[in-house]
This record gives sequence, C-alpha cells and structure tokens, in this order.
Amino acid sequence: MTDNASKKPDAAKGGEGQAMWGGRFSAKPAELMQAINVSISFDKRLWAQDLAGSRAHARMLISQGVIASSDGEEILEGLARVEDELLTGTFPFRDEYEDIHMNIEARLRELIGPVAGRLHTARSRNDQVAVDFRLWVREACDRSAAQLEALQNALLAQAEQYADALMPGFTHLQPAQPVTFGHHLMAYVEMFGRDADRFRDARARMNECPLGAAALAGSPFPIDRHATAKALGFDRPTANSLDSVSARDFALEALSAATITATHLSRLAEEIVLWTTPMFGFIKLTDAFTTGSSIMPQKKNPDAAELIRAKVGRILGSLTTLTVVMKGLPLAYSKDMQEDKVPTFEAFDALELSLLAMAGMIADLTPNTAKMAAAAGAGFSTATDLADWLVRTLNMPFRDAHHVTGSAVKLAEGLGVDLADLSLEHFQAIEPRITAEVYAVLTPAASAASRISYGGTAPAQVRAQIARWKELLG
Ligand code: ARG
Repeated sequence: MTDNASKKPDAAKGGEGQAMWGGRFSAKPAELMQAINVSISFDKRLWAQDLAGSRAHARMLISQGVIASSDGEEILEGLARVEDELLTGTFPFRDEYEDIHMNIEARLRELIGPVAGRLHTARSRNDQVAVDFRLWVREACDRSAAQLEALQNALLAQAEQYADALMPGFTHLQPAQPVTFGHHLMAYVEMFGRDADRFRDARARMNECPLGAAALAGSPFPIDRHATAKALGFDRPTANSLDSVSARDFALEALSAATITATHLSRLAEEIVLWTTPMFGFIKLTDAFTTGSSIMPQKKNPDAAELIRAKVGRILGSLTTLTVVMKGLPLAYSKDMQEDKVPTFEAFDALELSLLAMAGMIADLTPNTAKMAAAAGAGFSTATDLADWLVRTLNMPFRDAHHVTGSAVKLAEGLGVDLADLSLEHFQAIEPRITAEVYAVLTPAASAASRISYGGTAPAQVRAQIARWKELLG
C-alpha cells in the first residue's frame, strides 16, 4: 500500500483528502479498509479493456450529444496519453485510487483537467467492470481456442507420421487390443476439438455488452447501448440492467471450459509420464522438455508433463472459488464480485502455459516404435482377434468363441508363450476345426489393420480422420 496520509488533497478526488467517491464522506477510510478494498494490484491487468470501454463510451456520448464534442475530443486525446503511459510502463498505479477504473480516470484528470469528469456520465464502475472483465474473458476464450488448435496441429503432425505405428491399446491400463500411436494421439485431437468448441460456445453466449446498465437500473441520458456494443465487438447489448452488472456466469462458463480442458491435458500429461518411464519406454523427450536430478545423474524427468497434470487443481480451484463467491449473492452488484478476477486470471494463466507447453512437448517427442510394437503384441492382445476369427470362420456364437479363446490363452500362459506361438496341434486340441489360417489374425499388425469400422484403429481409418481434421483446422 502506498502512504496516502502524506498525499495532498487532490481536486481529482471527491472531497478534501477523500477518494473519488468521497463527496459525502468526512473521514478517510481506515488503512485496513483500504487494504481489503484495493484491487489495483490485480485489476491493472484490465487496463486495455478499460480504455477500450472508455473510448467506446466517450464516442457514444459525443454522438448522442450527451457531452460536447470538444470535451469528448479532449477526453479521447487524454485517453491516448494515458494509453501511452500504460504501454511504456510509466503509468503511475496508485493504491489510493483503489482499482483500474479510478486509477485511469484520476490520471486522465491529472493530464487534461476537470473535463475528465465528464467521461463518467451515464456510467458506473459496476457496468464498467462488467464490460472490462467480459472483454478480458472473451479474449481469454479466443486465446485458449487458438492454443488448443495449435496443440491439435502438433498432435496431427505426429499422428500422421505414426498412423500405422503399433502400440498396445489399454483398458484398465491392462493390454487390451493393439492400436496405432496415430490413433491414440487422434483421440486427444477429438477431446481438444470439443474443448475449443466449448470456448467458442461460451464466447458466443457471453458476447453481449453490459455497458450502459450504469449502476444497476440503466441511465436517464439518451445513450445508445447498441452503438457501444457494436464498437466493442459485442453482438448486442445485454437486455436487463440488473443482470448486466450482476452476471458472472460468463466467467464461470469459461472456467468450466478451462477445467474440462485442463482435465484432458492432465490425462495426456499422465500418459507422457508413463510412456517416458523406462518401464514403458514408448517415447523419448529431448533435453528441451525434461529436467535432471541434482543427485541421480541418470535421471531425465518429465517435469513439464507433471506440472501440466497438476495445473488442473489450480484451475478447478478457480472455478470452485468463483462459484462460491457468486453463490447466494443478492442482485445487483456486490463487492464480493471483485473477487472474480484473481481466480480467473490465475486459471487462464495456468491453462495457457499448459497448452503451450503441451504443444511443445508433443512436437518434441519421438516414439520408440520398435518398443511400442513389441509391447503391442504382449499380454495376449490378439485374443479378441482369435475369438472374432472363430465367429467368422467357424460360425461359432461369440460367447463360445470367447470360451475357446480363453482356453487357448490359458494354455499359452501355462507354456509361457504368446498365442501366435501355439502350434496348430495345440489349437486343435482345444477346437478341432481350427486351421493354420488362424495365424494370420494373431499378429498385432493384422489386428489393428482389421479394425476398419468408422473411427476404428485401422491405419486407413486413422488417416481418414487426420484428413478430416486437417480440413477442419484449415
Ligand atoms: N473494483 C471493483 C470490482 O472489481 C469495481 C466495481 C466497484 N463498484 C462499486 N460500486 N464499488 O468489482
């Protein structure tokens, strides 16, 4: 906190030694009051949005004749000077002006004089912060969607290169059926595609402009809310002034989308952690995305993946925080809502870093295709193929085929060999009608290639999905 006591009373403020709203106050706020009230340390991040909102508002006031053009032009020129200071880092952020809105307005008055006071005509900090924050969240949604697309492109590039590289497909993290590495990566392309859509959906819903709702009830001035909405890139103005200043569900929705995205990121991160451990040895990361240990020289740790796996905690925490802040708040604005920013900023900072790091890591990784292919055949992963062969070739009911296959697996396990290593005599001892043709379906490559159903793991299907996504992502 800055020391206000030493500051001279300022005409920019409401009254002698008072804050901007101090007209009816005769004493200064307690230091603790200021300490709990002040938000400039974090809402300074809204400065660009605040300037955009002020410019749109000032231009509208001019064209509606609410303020004189000459005053309006002075204000706009002053806002340009304020912007200069903000861009060059010379803007004086001051705790005594509480938040970004009053810091900018106070500075404007210092630069252009009392005419600055006309900017706040037909406006309140309540609709001001609502529009600033909405603009910020809208941009965060746009950035997240773009970063998700970049991540999808990184996954697509690897998937294309390894569309037919075999690896074990798992259920319960037990070997289930062979799949391809490309297919596995494309599963995440689907997830991240839905995540990007969620951000786009949230954006479309939040794209209404609360500016002009003023404190809560609207304005008696002949303002044009459609004009300010349009100037700020909104589809339309919000339709209820109370809702305009009270709504934060746009942030909750964006945080929900962020949480789901972070959940998907954590799953991919976990797989990277597993795959890089020598016990799996499926992929390698370069030195660019690993760190060493200060005591164990052999170590190469996938820290970025681990941190991405962890970030979901912070992001879900933010969603929880804001949900609880908003719960039970009566209409319209309450200061509780000032607590919307820190969790939202923090969540999107974490998400954006995670998305960028994940895209970097995906581009960085190299699969050990030999090791993955060897693992693809382990654990009797072609047992289903044997059962399917019995159904198709011998017209067996699937349940019986499942039983016969189970006996073959049991025999192979007892002998310590793979299914494909059983002799024809072994197979025929279990089911006499089995022929040597069966061996053709017992390789992981044949297994994967056979799964040609739409969305299946057959390389041809995987390539078709890669082509579809390349088209979609343009
Ligand atoms: N700093 C405040 C916030 O973030 C701005 C709105 C304050 N409005 C008010 N009436 N005190 O919510």
